[in-house]
Amino acid sequence: MKFLEIKNLRKSFGDLEVIKDISLDVEEGQVVAVIGPSGSGKSTLLRCATMLDSMDSGELIYLGEHAVTTGADGKAIPAPSKQLKKIQGYYGLVFQNFNLFPHYSVLKNVVDALITVQKKSKGEAVEIGREFLNKMSLSDKEDAYPYQLSGGQQQRVSIARALALNPKVLFFDEPTSALDPELTGEILKVIKDLAAEKMTMVIVTHEMSFARDVANHIIFMDGGIIVEEGLPDEVIKNPKNERTKTFLSRFEK
Ligand SMILES: Nc1ncnc2c1ncn2[C@@H]1O[C@H](COP(=O)(O)OP(=O)(O)OP(=O)(O)O)[C@@H](O)[C@H]1O
Ligand SMILES: [Mg+2]
Repeated sequence: MKFLEIKNLRKSFGDLEVIKDISLDVEEGQVVAVIGPSGSGKSTLLRCATMLDSMDSGELIYLGEHAVTTGADGKAIPAPSKQLKKIQGYYGLVFQNFNLFPHYSVLKNVVDALITVQKKSKGEAVEIGREFLNKMSLSDKEDAYPYQLSGGQQQRVSIARALALNPKVLFFDEPTSALDPELTGEILKVIKDLAAEKMTMVIVTHEMSFARDVANHIIFMDGGIIVEEGLPDEVIKNPKNERTKTFLSRFEK
């Protein structure tokens, strides 16, 4: 089953066309890695897919349900708010800079949306929160505050927070780029374990060897379009397009 479909997405900021007609399908259990140079539109693609940014035109569909359609005038139309709320429960997003609430404890960071958005009782939310903190090996940190944690631990809290909401699709935007190499390995392992559990994921990353290991499908973006896509070994080992070749030549293989 297709968990995510993006059709003919376009997005401009003023005169700058940042996403130019991108279409993308993500099947259940698939891991898609998005690679490409700075400014190519990777974060904007994720922000449009998670409705943090509005699309100019195109379609956005989760599990067959439309979050955004496009009218006869070519302009994007979001679904009614009740449907949007439901669809927003299908996905989660993990950011580069963790985006934890600094004045909330680790446990409160994880359970807050379970109570306020998913309307779970405090007892149930805490039970779920502890389950995912345990999964991220953070049980001993539930009373700590974000500033008391390493970057890798903070990122594991934000992954626990996203997982606790039971998303169908999990997006990551450069989840390791704020971390030093040792902590990067820690987070990449967590994401690999999620892939082994068949979590459906879309991951923007600059870690090429990780992308090759973890993804079933690689998308190379440049200038707001998908320049090349395919199996990791095809795109990363044997890129066909000159722009892909130039980009990848900067990384060790
Ligand atoms: N809110 C915004 N307002 C105006 N321009 C924006 C906005 N967000 C992004 N842009 C522009 O859109 C382009 C694509 O940005 P985006 O953040 O999607 O790139 P990226 O591929 O994620 O880059 P990086 O690898 O550096 O994170 C850039 O030229 C950026 O300056
Ligand atoms: Mg980005």
